Amino acid sequence: MLTRLPHAVVALRMRIFTWVNGDEGIPVPGPLVDAERFVEVYSHPAASGRSRGAALSDLFWYWLAPGSHVHQEHLEAGERYDEVARTTRRFLARPRVEIAELTERCARRVLDELGTSDLRVVRLRDLMMPIWAEVYYELVFGERCTSQARALIVANATDVITALKCCGLRHMDRRDRLTRFLRERLASGPPVQPLPTLLSPEEQAWYLQGTFFNTAVVQMSEAMAHLLLALAQNPDVQRRLAAEPEDHVYADQVIDESLRRYPLFGIAHRITTDEIVVGNGTSLPTGSVLCFNYPEFHAAGFERPEVFDPDRWPGMHRREANYIPFGVTANRPCPARGVAPLTMQVVAREVLRRFELHSAAAHTRSLPNRGPCLLARRTSPDRPRRRAAVLAFMRARDRWEDLWRSLSQLVLGTYMVVDARRQRLAQQYFEPEGAR
Ligand code: HEM
Repeated sequence: MLTRLPHAVVALRMRIFTWVNGDEGIPVPGPLVDAERFVEVYSHPAASGRSRGAALSDLFWYWLAPGSHVHQEHLEAGERYDEVARTTRRFLARPRVEIAELTERCARRVLDELGTSDLRVVRLRDLMMPIWAEVYYELVFGERCTSQARALIVANATDVITALKCCGLRHMDRRDRLTRFLRERLASGPPVQPLPTLLSPEEQAWYLQGTFFNTAVVQMSEAMAHLLLALAQNPDVQRRLAAEPEDHVYADQVIDESLRRYPLFGIAHRITTDEIVVGNGTSLPTGSVLCFNYPEFHAAGFERPEVFDPDRWPGMHRREANYIPFGVTANRPCPARGVAPLTMQVVAREVLRRFELHSAAAHTRSLPNRGPCLLARRTSPDRPRRRAAVLAFMRARDRWEDLWRSLSQLVLGTYMVVDARRQRLAQQYFEPEGAR
């Protein structure tokens, strides 16, 4: 009974969210659009509205604040969007060798801080955050990240992702501290690329905060936590990857499988700006809120989709599979789709060079437990009995934690959904001046 409670709470949470938020979304895949037409509808030029006209946007703006109105993900098409998207592309357009070297340097620095103990219990997401804070700070400002900047970025990114997963409330003071720091840093000298001129100085700081010190740090840390946890629970895959660190083809297949099985987006939504007539004749009227469900799409058309199996990839063409970890090319795909897998390989190699990973924790797509894992240093003598004892302790602890966390997620999530609905951040922004 107790072990089933977290699932029951998740289901109840979904019902409360739908109830408070309004049952406005059209699920894709769903009764109107099946998995075969998923990409066709996602790629349609009229599937282009991002925030205006969806109650769901109030919730995302609440979670991503401050400055959600200049976050690239939520800007409507137009001049401001074009300038912001161009700026992001410029920051990321560095030679692959340079980005790999930068990532390797930051990963080594952070992992070396772990000391020399034989066994260490960590949360993988927390372990990864400082690495990506350092990488993206240096990518943006062209200088080494200070410990002060790193602490502010990690506090900001942790606060956003904790609230998004309903594991804690928002702390705007933590986020505002980073904004103030970025404004001061920008006042003392420019970053490596010019910032969008259509944004005010405060909005420029929010743009950097939202795209690089929130989205980039959060997404990379989550993606790595999934990858490392999957390795911890699939020792054969881990052994092969550790033994053949230069086999980039296999590493790519493992990363593909991790992103397929544990896509970072649960749902991405679009608001239709015109009628869409789907190939099978179904009409989706203007103003429909389309909810593209990544986990369902990634499960459709694969044999035993729930199994983590990198060996399904040899001989399979990514473009022909139901696999869109970075969105669809025709509709605002992720600007980091080139650098993300490359840098994940670098960090995975650095972790596996030092540690063997073990974990018996629950591995779900939303990963609210942040990836509990035992790191066993490769250069230390193997102590299987001690390791088994620590793992047994972790198993008992994680089970209780899952239970309490799911109950607190229910309460905190309900509060935030109601609070976001009350604040109406997106709706107010799009209201005509006089109506605000
Ligand atoms: C493995 C890591 C990552 C994954 C799996 C991922 C996934 C995605 C997906 C699926 C979308 C499209 C969502 C939609 O259609 O609404 C997206 C958009 C976006 N991502 Fe990523 N992302 C990752 C890393 C990053 C990083 C490192 C950055 C920043 C440097 C980033 C910045 C963005 C931005 C700005 C958008 C919005 C694009 C636009 O609307 O023009 N992502 N990401």
